[in-house]
Amino acid sequence: MLTRVFYISEVAEGVTELDVQIVLGVAQVNNRRLDVTGMLAQSDGHFAQLLEGRSDVMRQLVARIATDQRHRSVPTLLQDAITTRQFPRWAMGLIRRDDMAQEMLELHRDGCEHNGQARWMIQQLMAFQPAEECVGPEAGRRDCRKST
Ligand SMILES: Cc1cc2nc3c(=O)[nH]c(=O)nc-3n(C[C@H](O)[C@H](O)[C@H](O)COP(=O)(O)O)c2cc1C
Repeated sequence: MLTRVFYISEVAEGVTELDVQIVLGVAQVNNRRLDVTGMLAQSDGHFAQLLEGRSDVMRQLVARIATDQRHRSVPTLLQDAITTRQFPRWAMGLIRRDDMAQEMLELHRDGCEHNGQARWMIQQLMAFQPAEECVGPEAGRRDCRKST
């Protein structure tokens, strides 16, 4: 069974752009191996990540990510069963969304009263999937990430 998990976390103090690039590289290698797909959005203070994969794989991966020192406070805002992936081509894509900084802060701070808020956020983030030529091994490259 396929599951998707969506969370928003706070970027830990001192985390640099290089740190995020390293996270992305590791995530892309691991996720390909685990058949996990998804998207990582970053604003000035927050990460928002959507992960899709087999339920058993997702449980372990999300638990591992939650303990990562490069971010903190990692509440799962949405976890549900899916039949099709929203990011089938991304082992992990990174998008910079400073324009969504306030919304990410509020959703992280207040949590979801209902799933609709998390779904809305995912829709906003999804609007910035990269062009076809930026998928696969190229997805982490700087010029590909400038899809916003
Ligand atoms: C915001 C964020 C997102 C991450 N996303 C992933 C991911 O999608 N897949 C992954 O394998 N690791 C991801 N990581 C890294 C993991 O926390 C962990 O460092 C990595 O899986 C290697 O784990 P290991 O050292 O136990 O092998 C992420 C880390 C952070 C801070």
